[in-house]
Amino acid sequence: MNSTPSHPPGTASEPVTIIGLGKMGTTLARLLLRAGRDVTVWNRSSDKAGPLAREGAKLAPSAAHAVTAGKLIIVCVHDYTASDQILHEPSVARALAGRTLVQLTTASPQEARDAETWAHTQGASYLDGAIQAAPAQMGQADTTILISGNKPVFQQAEATLKLFAGNLTFLGEKISTAAALDLATLSYVYGATLGFFHGAIIAETEGFRVDDYGAIVAKIAPAFGEFLKYEGVVIQSGNFTSTESPLSISTEATARLVDTARASGINEELPEFFSRYFKRAEAAGYGNEEVAAVIKTMRRYPATP
Ligand SMILES: NC(=O)c1ccc[n+]([C@@H]2O[C@H](COP(=O)([O-])OP(=O)(O)OC[C@H]3O[C@@H](n4cnc5c(N)ncnc54)[C@H](OP(=O)(O)O)[C@@H]3O)[C@@H](O)[C@H]2O)c1
Repeated sequence: MNSTPSHPPGTASEPVTIIGLGKMGTTLARLLLRAGRDVTVWNRSSDKAGPLAREGAKLAPSAAHAVTAGKLIIVCVHDYTASDQILHEPSVARALAGRTLVQLTTASPQEARDAETWAHTQGASYLDGAIQAAPAQMGQADTTILISGNKPVFQQAEATLKLFAGNLTFLGEKISTAAALDLATLSYVYGATLGFFHGAIIAETEGFRVDDYGAIVAKIAPAFGEFLKYEGVVIQSGNFTSTESPLSISTEATARLVDTARASGINEELPEFFSRYFKRAEAAGYGNEEVAAVIKTMRRYPATP
């Protein structure tokens, strides 16, 4: 089962296969169908393919048939263990030869490296992507997918992948980069999310509506994004000379968060956690440097200035 479709790669006529019809895979298939693309789908539980068949997708009877039907094979399942269970089945692995496999299943950097090596061994090209949006946010001009892999392979798949994410961001040929940067953005998101939750407790304690607090945060978020972008420039340059935000301001602000939590009788774990970092950086002599100087005490554990 290894007849390569005759359609030229990277064109609108190129047949695409989607493996995995969870919430995200179903959305990806639907976006392709709406763009008039030739789409074959396969999912372990075949009942999930029914609605897509009514919208024009071809249902493959097996994963191997699904791979054979496409030139671009997009996989979006729970994790790489699930993906390996599907792709490593011998008839599926054989069918991948001469095709491009695009992994949109979330991975670790090592999983991405292993998957690329394995795909190349099967004679397939390989791209590794990390989706930065929920299913309902897919297909918009500002939807982001981070992607890494061989550049000519990316360029052939680009027009198709742009149907999923207008902000398709190619990160270069090192295959693990998309997975690594997915972890980096997750670190930012979870830090901000827990900070937001502590802020919600402060709002509640003061009798302020938490939905109104959320609206305030949404208004300041773009400016905060610009601030973080600038801190990234500072860290990259290695020049921590303060311009507007000396680190000592953050030492005082986080100490105020701790004091206020104690005075109000609310949980003080998160403010104490924040405060520890800034106090340590100030004790290391970075108080008058740009706030990003705190990173100099974070790179190693236990912390060393
Ligand atoms: N949903 C999001 O908001 C979001 C955002 C960014 C990235 N992602 C990533 O997208 C990927 C898919 O997410 P999702 O939300 O679509 O997940 P989901 O709705 O939970 O769907 C999981 C999919 O994996 C399949 N699967 C699980 N274990 C399997 C196995 N052992 N063998 C074969 N198939 C298996 C399921 O098949 P069955 O239907 O047969 O169970 C289903 O197709 C994940 O890697 C996720 O991290 C999701």
